[in-house]
Amino acid sequence: MEEIWDDVDAYLTGLFAPPDEALDAAVAAGAAAGLPPIQVSAPQGALLNVLARSVGARRILELGTLAGYSTIWLARAVPDGDVVSLEYDPRHAEVARENLARAGVGDRVDVRVGAALDLLPRLADDRSAGAEPFDFVFLDADKANLPAYFAAALDLTRPGGLIVTDNVVRDGQVADAANTDANVQGARGVLELMASHPGVTATAIQTVGNKGYDGFAIALVN
Ligand code: SAH
Ligand code: DHB
Ligand code: MG
Repeated sequence: MEEIWDDVDAYLTGLFAPPDEALDAAVAAGAAAGLPPIQVSAPQGALLNVLARSVGARRILELGTLAGYSTIWLARAVPDGDVVSLEYDPRHAEVARENLARAGVGDRVDVRVGAALDLLPRLADDRSAGAEPFDFVFLDADKANLPAYFAAALDLTRPGGLIVTDNVVRDGQVADAANTDANVQGARGVLELMASHPGVTATAIQTVGNKGYDGFAIALVN
């Protein structure tokens, strides 16, 4: 099956995400620097862009920058807005900043280095001090902390905003309650939290493609 998933992803990429100098250079620079090639696929990047624009996003928060590939797709959705992207690894952040500058979006993206669990409370402080809420959040850092990330993101997002979570299906392992893998537990935890939380209307959808078999969760803030 994987081969046809790749073929279809190539076809969809040709239609919806044709070769793009800045995006292609970002992937190449990440690979050259030895970063893992785990960025969203091109059609998934286009999905993030469409979703962010569909809620009229002006302020976007991302957890997990890597080389800034998804960040470029998101930044392009907010030509007059801004993106805050949290990244644990300073080397990743450095590669990302170069990629974002080359893409012409460096001035609207603030890559902050640190563990998301340490940086999120500062964003909450900014919010208390009058900073505007976020309209769109993309959770794509480590998976074990997903429930905590979702709870923090919810406090930072305006009603009508979207919180999109990557990698929640994990080759189908998510359906196995007995799976003890911390990433699977994190995915199950965040799905159960958003399913039961009165503050959001949510769903999750399975995906296949050149990143294998996985899925997104999407929560609309009530
Ligand atoms: N969103 C990127 C891919 C992110 S990969 C894209 O699609 O292009 C996951 C990233 O999360 C990695 O760069 C990793 O270093 C970072 N990360 C891992 N643990 C983290 C943490 N606790 N806080 C912030 N970032 C973290
Ligand atoms: C992997 C994929 C991702 O999209 C991610 O955010 C982290 C890891 C992976 O395939 O290992
Ligand atoms: Mg991911």
